Amino acid sequence: MYHDIVLHNGVTMPAVGFGTWMLKGEPGKQAILDALAVGYLLIDTAHMYDNEAIVGQAVAESGLEREEVFITTKLCRTRAGYELARQGIEESLARLQTDYIDLLLIHEPYDKALDMYRALTEAYRKGQVRAIGISNFNAKQYLDFIGSCDIIPMVNQVECHIYYRRKELQQTLMSKGTQMQAWSPFTEGKKPIFQEPVLQAIGRQYGKTAAQVALRYLVQQGISVVPKSSHRERMKENLDIFDVTLTARDIARIQQLETGKTLFGWYDD
Ligand SMILES: NC(=O)c1ccc[n+]([C@@H]2O[C@H](COP(=O)([O-])OP(=O)(O)OC[C@H]3O[C@@H](n4cnc5c(N)ncnc54)[C@H](OP(=O)(O)O)[C@@H]3O)[C@@H](O)[C@H]2O)c1
Repeated sequence: MYHDIVLHNGVTMPAVGFGTWMLKGEPGKQAILDALAVGYLLIDTAHMYDNEAIVGQAVAESGLEREEVFITTKLCRTRAGYELARQGIEESLARLQTDYIDLLLIHEPYDKALDMYRALTEAYRKGQVRAIGISNFNAKQYLDFIGSCDIIPMVNQVECHIYYRRKELQQTLMSKGTQMQAWSPFTEGKKPIFQEPVLQAIGRQYGKTAAQVALRYLVQQGISVVPKSSHRERMKENLDIFDVTLTARDIARIQQLETGKTLFGWYDD
């Protein structure tokens, strides 16, 4: 259940992906190779992370077929504009050593996001991109945006974790067909989530760690996640969440941790 998520255009996306923010150089490439070796089939990168090239190299060296791996990347502020985005797509394709991107997002709600999105839409129609979307759009920004675009974004990747679950945003997105995806599902270490007593207590019932419960909580509620780790054992741990089902009571207990507040201060609801 929930291993894969089907986007509104029929494209299938793994529910759990591998985040690559801060992974750089040879150690970064090795971490991505480890992630692919332990079973991740979605790699989340971005122009801004300056690591698309090592993602491309790792996929090429992994022994997996290109079609087996779902690659997400994002266009950032320096590509905010129609022509700039067109150019940015070609650059990302080259760095990733591929002739298509599985999911291409606009990294933040830039003033020129609609112009960028025209370039994404064209690339989608040409088959250079299998799915298109946005990132860091709150409900108002999202609703304004979809009022002026031809294709409803398939994904909105946003800050989302046990302390800031964003149920209303998810409902707004779902009502129009957009999948919510959680970045920093472990809060990037801003909170001691791995020592959270409620998660530990629930985990003990199922032989799972706090990290696994934190991810399962989101995935079970239809949210895709892209946790990052540079440790192979943790990578495995973070994927191993599909053999348990949290009860309504477990979910209600975790909901008690909700703060309704961003930890990052970006594009709050
Ligand atoms: N669209 C956006 O604007 C945006 C913004 C932020 C992030 N992202 C994406 O989301 C991804 C994930 O977010 P993130 O990298 O900020 O942080 P995160 O996944 O919330 O947390 C990563 C931290 O958790 C630790 N960790 C991972 N698994 C663990 C486990 N099982 N037990 C204990 N510690 C564990 C990692 O340590 P080790 O590495 O030492 O294992 C690392 O310090 C990013 O890599 C990026 O791809 C997107």
